[in-house]
Amino acid sequence: SNPSLLILPGDGIGQEVMAEVRKIIDWFGENRDLKFDVSEDLVGGAAYDAHGTPLTDATMAKAQEVDAVLLGAVGGPKYDDLDFAVKPERGLLRLRKEMDLFSNLRPAQCFDALADFSSLKKDLVAGLDIMIVRELTSGSYFGEPRGIFTEDNQRVGINTQRYTESEIDRVARSAFELARRRNNKVCSMEKANVMESGILWRDVVTEVHQADYADVELSHMYADAGAMQLVRAPKQFDVILTDNLFGDLLSDTAAMLTGSLGMLPSASLGAPMENGRPKAMYEPVHGSAPDIMGQDKANPSACILSFAMALRYSFDEGDAATLLETAVEQVLAKGIRTGDLMQADGGTPVGCKAMGDAIIA
Ligand code: NAI
Ligand code: MG
Repeated sequence: SNPSLLILPGDGIGQEVMAEVRKIIDWFGENRDLKFDVSEDLVGGAAYDAHGTPLTDATMAKAQEVDAVLLGAVGGPKYDDLDFAVKPERGLLRLRKEMDLFSNLRPAQCFDALADFSSLKKDLVAGLDIMIVRELTSGSYFGEPRGIFTEDNQRVGINTQRYTESEIDRVARSAFELARRRNNKVCSMEKANVMESGILWRDVVTEVHQADYADVELSHMYADAGAMQLVRAPKQFDVILTDNLFGDLLSDTAAMLTGSLGMLPSASLGAPMENGRPKAMYEPVHGSAPDIMGQDKANPSACILSFAMALRYSFDEGDAATLLETAVEQVLAKGIRTGDLMQADGGTPVGCKAMGDAIIA
C-alpha cells in the first residue's frame, strides 16, 4: 500500500498554501508514480468551529497512525478571545505532545536569488545551508516546578530547566543521524559554563558521540558565543544541536539570515514507529497571516518545502525532495515571486496559486 499522509490545513493562509501542496502531491502521483494515501482533516480554529475543540480525539488518533502529518497554520483574530483550553494553538501543542515529537528540525537555507533579503551581507549568506536541531518537548518550557509563587511577601516567577539523560540522548542521536545524511558535522550548543543542565548536556552528547557516532565531527560551543558566530560567520556551521530554549532563539535568529518567513519549512520528529519511519509532523514556520488571508497573496514555498522535508525524512524520497527544492529555487531565480519576496522596486508579484503553478511547471 502507499505511504499515508494526513493533511491538516488549519486556518487562514494555511488553507491556501496547502491547496498548492495538494497540486504538487497530485503531480508526483501522475508524473513520478509516487503515490500517497492522503486524508485531510481539521485543526485549530477550523476544528473549533466544527467541533468545539481545536483537535478532536478522532483526528489525534489518525495522526498517530499515519506515516506523516503535514500541517498548514492555526489561529487568527477570530479566536483570540477563546478560553486557553480551546485556543487554536492547543491543537498544535496536543499533536506535538501526544506524538512525542522531541526533535525539531529547522533548516536555514539561503537560496542565491534571495541573498539580498538576508539581514546580513550577501557574501556571508549566499549558499548558506545549515540545520538547527532543537529539543522540543522538555527543558525550561516544561520543567517543574513552574508558576508564580509568593515568597517573602513578593511574587516570584519560576521556570525550571530540567533535562534527563534519555531526553538528551535521543535528540543527540537524531542530530548525528541527520549529520550523516549531510556533511558529517555537528556543533552542540549549551551553557555548560553556568548551568548544570548544560554540563549534563555536554557530557551526554559526548558519550553518545563516542559510543555510536565517532565518524561525525563534533564540536561544542556556549550558546551565547554560538549566537555571535551565527551572525558573524554562519557558513562555518552545518548541523547545530541545542535545547528547547536556546533552540527557540537560535533558530529564529538563523531564520532571519535567509530572508522571508514565507520560505521557511520545519520538521518535528519523534521515535521510530513499527515500520521504521519516525513519528513526524511537517509544517511551515509562519502562522495563519490574517493580514493577507483570502487574497491569494501567500507564499506557498514554506509549506511546499515542508512537504519536501517529508519526502526526504519520512518517505526516503531524497531525489523527489531535491527535485522539488530545485524547482522552488529556479522559480525564484527567474524572478517569479510572491509579494513577501519583492523589493520596493521589484515589479509585479504573483499570487499564491500562480507561484504553485510556476513551481509545478
Ligand atoms: P504570521 O507568521 O502569521 O505572519 C507574520 C507576517 O508575515 C505577516 O505580515 C504575514 O502576512 C507574513 N507572512 C507569514 N507567512 C507568509 C507567507 N507564507 N507568505 C507571505 N507572507 C507571509 O505571524 P503572526 O501575524 O504573528 O500571527 C498570526 C496568527 O498565526 C496568530 O493567530 C498566531 O497565533 C498564529 N501563528 C500560528 C503559528 C502556527 O500555526 N505554527 C505560528 C505563528 C503564529
Ligand atoms: Mg520562536
